Amino acid sequence: MKQINRFLAVFAMLAVPQMAVAVDAERAKEIYGPCAACHGEFGAGGKKGEYPRIAGQQPKYMEQQLKSFQKRVRINIPMVPYTEERELTDADMKVVSEWLAQVELDTKMPVFKGHEDALTRLLAVEKVMIVPRVEGDIDNGGKIYQKQCASCHGKQGKGRGMFPMIAGQYIVYLQKQINAYLKAERPHDEDSAKVGVLYSLKPEEIQDVMAYLTTLQNLD
Ligand code: HEC
Ligand code: HEC
Repeated sequence: MKQINRFLAVFAMLAVPQMAVAVDAERAKEIYGPCAACHGEFGAGGKKGEYPRIAGQQPKYMEQQLKSFQKRVRINIPMVPYTEERELTDADMKVVSEWLAQVELDTKMPVFKGHEDALTRLLAVEKVMIVPRVEGDIDNGGKIYQKQCASCHGKQGKGRGMFPMIAGQYIVYLQKQINAYLKAERPHDEDSAKVGVLYSLKPEEIQDVMAYLTTLQNLD
């Protein structure tokens, strides 16, 4: 418990983002407590993308996804116990989503001066999220992305409103979602299953888009 409190205290110091929306940060961190076990102290996700990055994700989108996990519309077995109504109310979903949206992650490894203690180092590294490059034709991926995806996911992949950020996300996770969409296990856009942009692309073209997305993460 002591360790956790210490974590949260440092967390509070490191993760003071520009407040776009006023969020009850104390309350949000309390709600986020159990989530950190999988999504990391700062929402950077983990296990090479088994747990997605949620820091900096669009708040309305996250709120909607939490609701759909709770209602079992989007199947996410590991998270079900955490989204039960008694664990996570609608108000909690909103607070934690708005707060996570404001947590900024670094795309560069920190440079240590040598006098930092182990916890400081650990937390600094937890704040870094670098998506490794993947194979694919970046130029072709860029053309496809800007033509077919950017209208919803944004020119730089940051999303807006109900459209999720997809730049700066683990490729393994994105690919898993695309597979789920293609199998109609998860609905992609407003068009219902089996129609829409993802179905018109070849696997190589999707791979090219993934390669392109990894080049967008350092842009601001
Ligand atoms: C036991 C591990 C675990 C815990 C604890 C957990 N999650 Fe997750 N979460 C996951 C996994 C796994 C996925 C991805 C599921 C998939 O692949 O579709 C996910 C997905 C998400 C997503 C969707 C991200 C996206 O881009 O669509 C959000 C938002 C999220 N989690 C928020 C939370 C919040 C908030 C909590 C705490 C209340 C939490 N999670 C607790 C494992 C966990
Ligand atoms: C018409 C709008 C629209 C277009 C165009 C679009 N998307 Fe999406 N995309 C969405 C919406 C809405 C969601 C969230 C769906 C949900 O609620 O599950 C989404 C989700 C995703 C996700 C899952 C993100 C996550 O965090 O789980 C991926 C990956 C994705 N889109 C890739 C693409 C790619 C690649 C393209 C272009 C080839 C594309 N999308 C074009 C609307 C769009």
